[in-house]
Parts: sequence; structure tokens; C-alpha cells
Amino acid sequence: MTKRVPEGTLAGVTEAQTTVLETDRLILRRLTMDDLEPLAKLYADPRVRRHFPEGTLTYEQTEEELQWIIDVYYARYGYGLWATVLKEDAKFIGRCGLLPWTIIEGRDGGIALTIADDGTDDAAGIDVEVAYLLAEEYWGQGLATEAAQAIVEYAFERLNMKRLICLFDPENQASRRVAEKAGFAFERDVEVDGEPSPLYAISRIRETHP
Ligand SMILES: CC(C)(COP(=O)(O)OP(=O)(O)OC[C@H]1O[C@@H](n2cnc3c(N)ncnc32)[C@H](O)[C@@H]1OP(=O)(O)O)[C@@H](O)C(=O)NCCC(=O)NCCS
Repeated sequence: MTKRVPEGTLAGVTEAQTTVLETDRLILRRLTMDDLEPLAKLYADPRVRRHFPEGTLTYEQTEEELQWIIDVYYARYGYGLWATVLKEDAKFIGRCGLLPWTIIEGRDGGIALTIADDGTDDAAGIDVEVAYLLAEEYWGQGLATEAAQAIVEYAFERLNMKRLICLFDPENQASRRVAEKAGFAFERDVEVDGEPSPLYAISRIRETHP
């Protein structure tokens, strides 16, 4: 039986240090517990966290999320949120990546999503979100769009995913624009952990064989 090796795991290379992908201006690499300080600073910023229902996070809550990303997403799925680093000065400017969600079909015909954590990403009933969050001083330079486009390509080409989604607060126009610019289109309104969200989706175009 073939065991799937998590993406980015190379013999002799520390998994935690693995670069996942590169764009013109960015490197996306796995987060480590060493990223706690800059990540906690980002998550404590009310403007960065304005569109998150839980608002800002404390240092301890950020530590818990970081540990979860490493222990659950990297270990069980082989992907997750990645440190987003500016190439020109190696500065940590945010975190972007892929998040698995479990889809729950409601009896009323509605659809709700809740975070997935059991590692069965190729089972029916999972949608994978492209997520992005940057420090405010880096907004408005096309960096989130650059990251999102590269993540879509990576998910389709390297991880062989067939479909990706974007979810956001309906008021978050910047997030909606990034999704549109990365090729996502509105599909339907859903509930994400009880909060309303538009669901935007993109599907991989099936290769045609002559
Ligand atoms: C969402 C976010 C990642 C966008 O990052 P960014 O690097 O500034 O995005 P880009 O520069 O690639 O801009 C993408 C588009 O959004 C538009 N945009 C940016 N801010 C906007 C705003 N406040 N209102 C409307 N459109 C906005 C840009 O003009 C651009 O569109 P255009 O090229 O048609 O002009 C950034 O605002 C952020 O980190 N916000 C806080 C975290 C967050 O809310 N993440 C999303 C959670 S779902």
C-alpha cells in the first residue's frame, strides 16, 4: 500500500523549514513556533482582524492557533496556512494558504461550513478555502492577489485539487476583490460557524485528452 507523503516533506530537510511556493515578490513557507511573535502582533491588530467574528486574538490564542496549524493541518493534511514573507527583505508580512472545511447540508436546503480537522481531505463533503491575511502596511500593492493566484495554481497543479473556495464577511470588499482577481466566482450564500458568508468557488479546468 502506498502511503502519501505530506507535500513538502523531503528526506533530510527539516519539514518545518520547507518553502511551499514562490511568486515574484513573495515566499510562502511553513509556519513554525518561531513565527509566534510576528503572527501574534498581526492578530492583535483590530484593523487586520476587523472582519473576523472572533476579533483580535491574544498571544495565547495565537499560540494555540499556530500549534493547531502545525499539529493538525500540516500533520494530517500536508497543507495549511503558510508564513508569507517578502523576498526583498525577508520580512514576515502575513499568513496565506489553504484551509479545509467540512460541508454540512442543512435540512432547510441551506449549507453550513465548519472547520475540518480529521485529515480526510479527499473525502466528499470537504471544501478547501484559499485564505489570506497581511499586515496593513502591505495592503494595496497587489500582494494578496499575487499570493492567492499562486496558491490556486499550487493547489491545482501540485496538490491535484479539483475545486477551491473563498469565504469572507460580506462587508469585506478587499477580500471579495482578491477572490475575483484570483478567478473565483460567486456560487451561493452559506453559513460559516453561524456567520453569513458568500461562497466563491473556482474549479480546475479538466484537461482534454485527444
Ligand atoms: C484582504 C487583504 C488580504 C487584501 O490584501 P491586499 O494585498 O491589499 O490586496 P490587493 O492589493 O491584492 O488588492 C486586491 C483588490 O482589492 C481592492 N481593495 C483593497 N482594499 C479594498 C477596500 N477596502 N475596499 C474595496 N476594495 C479594496 C484593491 O483595489 C484590488 O482591486 P483592484 O486591483 O481592482 O483595484 C487585506 O486587506 C487584509 O489582510 N485584510 C485583513 C485580513 C482579512 O480580512 N483577510 C481576509 C479574510 S477572509
